[in-house]
Amino acid sequence: MGSLVDPAFVQAPEHRPKPTATETAVGIPLIDLSPLLHSPIPTDGGAAPPAISSLLAEVEAACRDWGFFQVINHGVPSELLDNIMAASKGFFALPAEEKWQVKRDEVNPLGYYNTEHTKNVRDWKEVFDLIVEELPVPLALAEPGADEFLSLRNRWPEHPPAFREACEKYTKAMNELAFKLLELISLTLGLPAKRLNGFFKDRASFIRLNHYPPCPSPHLALGVGRHKDAGALTILAQDDVGGLDVKRRSDGEWIRVKPIPNSYIINVGDIIQVWSNDKYESAEHRVSVNLERERFSIPFFFNPALYVTVQPLDELIDEKKRPAKYNAYNWGEFFKARKNSNFKKLEVENVQIYHFKKAV
Ligand code: OGA
Ligand code: NI
Repeated sequence: MGSLVDPAFVQAPEHRPKPTATETAVGIPLIDLSPLLHSPIPTDGGAAPPAISSLLAEVEAACRDWGFFQVINHGVPSELLDNIMAASKGFFALPAEEKWQVKRDEVNPLGYYNTEHTKNVRDWKEVFDLIVEELPVPLALAEPGADEFLSLRNRWPEHPPAFREACEKYTKAMNELAFKLLELISLTLGLPAKRLNGFFKDRASFIRLNHYPPCPSPHLALGVGRHKDAGALTILAQDDVGGLDVKRRSDGEWIRVKPIPNSYIINVGDIIQVWSNDKYESAEHRVSVNLERERFSIPFFFNPALYVTVQPLDELIDEKKRPAKYNAYNWGEFFKARKNSNFKKLEVENVQIYHFKKAV
């Protein structure tokens, strides 16, 4: 089969998807969050009720072995997801000229675009990005004085009319779920439940609406090239088409995540990898596309404030036994460098978390 797509989309041979995805019984873990509907997360250092203890053991194993898991009984009303999915479909179905009215640019990376590159190969997708809570302007700047940097303002399309409300309601629910997951993860690191919450005071979380159209050369292109999410946590909703592949840590095989109605896929990002000093690693993932069906997904990127300095947590470091494996870095600068490099094709590798790894 030859290429029916523009060469900008064509992956190097070693990164192309195999003709058939690996279907396996041993996929990413499925975790039932219903214990959280009945018992609060213990925040006083007291013993957790048994249902919460076993939940913590599942979360710990999933973060350690995969960096990815799926959750059900998460408490997010299904109509919130239905509404934002409908809004997303309505938006991407608009004529191109209307979508271009809300397109992103180099100063403000929010809005519509269809030319994102992952590792300098173009992704077979179109996206709409929005920030969850608009920040007061000074907080949008990682470096004082860098006033050309990231003016983060949402660009709301006129159509469909229910778009903004659907996004705002969904976002609120995602924030609540994200804090619950953060507190669970903090406990699994042997820390107080709310140890990490302070980093999220002026958080810069994002929602991305992804639309992957059918692709004439799904063996050559990817919806999103292999990458790790740079933030703290990602909560992803996907429709029933399937296409998200996670790199299994045990053997490096790409494993397709099976769509489960009304579930969310959770993955730890680079920031949790650094905070935990590699106890948890963010996993590589990618999106395969297909010939027949378009696919929609909605990641919520739960990120700390842009001024946060990211480094291994003091409590997890011991100079002799467990030295820090990463140098500290500024989250806002990392974010900005990644956003700019994804915007256009560059000749150099874009910023990756291993660049901050200490030499041993
Ligand atoms: C992403 C991503 C996965 C998907 O946007 O970072 O990994 O299934 N998306 O769309
Ligand atoms: Ni991702």
